[in-house]
Amino acid sequence: MIQLIRGFRDILPGEVELWQRIEATARDLFEGFGYREIRIPVMERTELFARSIGEQTDIVEKEMYTFPDRKGELITLRPEATASIVRAYIQHRLYAQEPVRKFYTIGPMFRRERPQKGRYRQFYQINVEVFGVASALVDAQLILMLVTLLERLAVEDVHVHANSLGCPACRPDFRKALSDYLASRMDRLCSDCRRRSEKNPLRVLDCKVPDCRDAMTGAPAITDHLCDDCRAHFDTFRRALDEQKIGYVIDPRLVRGLDYYTRTTFEVQTGSLGAQSAVAGGGRYDGLVKALGGPEMPATGFAIGLDRLAELVAARSEGTAPGPDVFIAALGDESRRRAFGWVCELGLDGVQAEMEYGDRSLKSQMKRANRLKARRVLIVGENELAAGRAVLRDMQTREQQEIPLPAVVEEIKALAAASRD
Ligand code: HAM
Repeated sequence: MIQLIRGFRDILPGEVELWQRIEATARDLFEGFGYREIRIPVMERTELFARSIGEQTDIVEKEMYTFPDRKGELITLRPEATASIVRAYIQHRLYAQEPVRKFYTIGPMFRRERPQKGRYRQFYQINVEVFGVASALVDAQLILMLVTLLERLAVEDVHVHANSLGCPACRPDFRKALSDYLASRMDRLCSDCRRRSEKNPLRVLDCKVPDCRDAMTGAPAITDHLCDDCRAHFDTFRRALDEQKIGYVIDPRLVRGLDYYTRTTFEVQTGSLGAQSAVAGGGRYDGLVKALGGPEMPATGFAIGLDRLAELVAARSEGTAPGPDVFIAALGDESRRRAFGWVCELGLDGVQAEMEYGDRSLKSQMKRANRLKARRVLIVGENELAAGRAVLRDMQTREQQEIPLPAVVEEIKALAAASRD
């Protein structure tokens, strides 16, 4: 038997309803804030991700699914959505009429990480991006949307971590302080960090290797090296969070795993997911649109890990896959022919009706109706056909009534509508 690829998974009926509910809640919330859906391809030229996310990141160095297509061009399954949305924003000149554009997208991403609970090689993100607003108020508004979504889904035990990564004016000063610190700890760093400490020392702050984490206790904090503009930006952000009554902690080690960030960065973490504690992450990337060939344009956004969010929501809700509105237990060819007509007519009207297509006894059909958790069963055999009336049994109250055959569809539709109200 051919099994699915390691780190990939199926989301089966039973679980998928929860995903649909999360997606619908997110769409509703984001659209209320003026965000519009954008759909972008799952593959892009490798260069787009390498230049956006950064050559020295784990994602680009180790985790991308990259391969030459038949003409030899290097393409990559998207490890994230931000780079593609920026590409689309530039390519379609979406800034031309109105620079402030707000997008969301939901879909699969691909990273070849070591699979474990909460970490998959194909995972899903709900992604939100705003272009054209430099103000930190929008960063705070993004976090408001994020925590509201979690609240609406009744997720608890979540904590907002926030930091500022400064800008091209102040980051060199911090890099220098960090490099000096790293030089004094070089022998305690892993080989990746030793290599990175020269070209991209911020990445060392993000390393998950326990020895590196230990070596970094006492490292300089970027928040002590911000320029006046970045400090004012960060203050505005914090004040807006306070005014919206959103709790958060400042985490000067929060550099995120992607290189495009400037100023505000944030993550939502939870204690309920074990090692994979980040449910969502994001921040500002004011330099990326320009770096990819577009105009100077501030931008900010976040992505939620949908797999992780679904796990958190599932932990708080029971599986409630509804059964069919009616199961039609038909006996004999003529009854089955009539039943099939009703099943189709009801289905077209959004009333879920199931039947047994083979020649089975009434007893086995009733068993199946029970297994499916059908709300009611309509019984029709030769006697019922002769009498011109079918028997409808309510499976909860056990009450039975007879329905004239020409009224079957209307009657079941009315009952289904009433039990939904
Ligand atoms: P990220 O932190 O790499 O950010 O990913 C965002 C979220 O995706 C994580 O917090 C996590 O919940 C989920 N995630 C990441 N990798 C996996 C995985 N292997 N398995 C399951 N879930 C995973 C970004 O991707 C940025 N593009 C976010 C952003 C948008 N920044 C600005 N705009």
